Amino acid sequence: PTLKDAFAGKFYIGTALNIPQILGRDSASLKVVKNQFDAIVAENCMKSGHLEPQEGFFDFSTADKFVQFGLDNHLFVTGHTLIWHSQAPRWFFTDSLGHDVSRDVMIARMKNYISTVVGHFKGKVKGWDVVNEAVLDDGSLRKSKFYQIIGPDFIKLAFEFAHEADPNAELYYNDYSMANPQKREGVIRMVKELQSEGVRIDGIGMQGHIGLTHPDIDEFEKSLEAFASLGVQINISELDLSVLPNPDFHTGANVSDNFKYDKKLNPYAEALPDSVAKAFNQRCLDFFNLFLKHQDVIERVTLWGVNDGQSWKNNWPVRGRTDYPLLFDRNNLPKPVVKEIIDAA
Ligand code: XIL
Repeated sequence: PTLKDAFAGKFYIGTALNIPQILGRDSASLKVVKNQFDAIVAENCMKSGHLEPQEGFFDFSTADKFVQFGLDNHLFVTGHTLIWHSQAPRWFFTDSLGHDVSRDVMIARMKNYISTVVGHFKGKVKGWDVVNEAVLDDGSLRKSKFYQIIGPDFIKLAFEFAHEADPNAELYYNDYSMANPQKREGVIRMVKELQSEGVRIDGIGMQGHIGLTHPDIDEFEKSLEAFASLGVQINISELDLSVLPNPDFHTGANVSDNFKYDKKLNPYAEALPDSVAKAFNQRCLDFFNLFLKHQDVIERVTLWGVNDGQSWKNNWPVRGRTDYPLLFDRNNLPKPVVKEIIDAA
């Protein structure tokens, strides 16, 4: 059995596709996608900077191919992501002089963007990450351009515009560091407010950018349970398990130090030691066992890529790292943990 066979009837198991994959330039990994996964999300090509690089100029060429691949292979297709402060085009927030636009202009642009994009994929994209990363670690709302120009109700408006454009699409809020108790409370506050205003929200996406020791799995579970008790589904989104230490930019290294800094923090450039591979294995199993335990509320678990070679973690938070965060190795071969995960299911 493959991953999707093992999880059938429990939750969807998905992966992100990058642009070379979508353009068919990486057939080996696409074979893995077809065999192992039953859901996909676009790693980059459906972000606003890609879809509307200039005002009024929409480019759906790559995104259309991505969605068609999903339809052809009967995969659940998630749209990622409508409103995010990052990878958004500058024009979105500014006038021709480079000044911030007014609240009304900003709302009109947001509405036009969401209606056009969600409308374009109506009936094909089954669920949308409507708002991404709007809550900070301390639980307050991020002071993004959306927040600064529109105010906190940009979140509610985004969900309403998406719902209008495709009343049958599922709508999600997606964010990282969700195990953090303060952030958990902030997200709960935000979702409760949406619900009390009668806004449709179907699910919460818990980004799974995790490491060998961080986050605390018990705190992750507490968040999962607390979110589920709001009556929404849980998507474990963007799952990858970095084996590298995370450089802390707050305590030193600036960008020009990255190379120096990076070498120090790129200990597995040649190969991954057995002991670390074992720790990776165990940590993966722990998380998948947690997902299985909560299969009633988890709708989908999505890896952030197929194989180690394509992972963004090789270039984040600094370029040129060698990471091993996914379930398939650089030759698209399943790591030992894949069989263990399948057996656990
Ligand atoms: C990342 C992609 O993986 C990279 O290729 C890109 O350069 C930056 O964005 N949270 C998200 C994702 O919601 O969209 C991000 O994806 C990772 C963090």
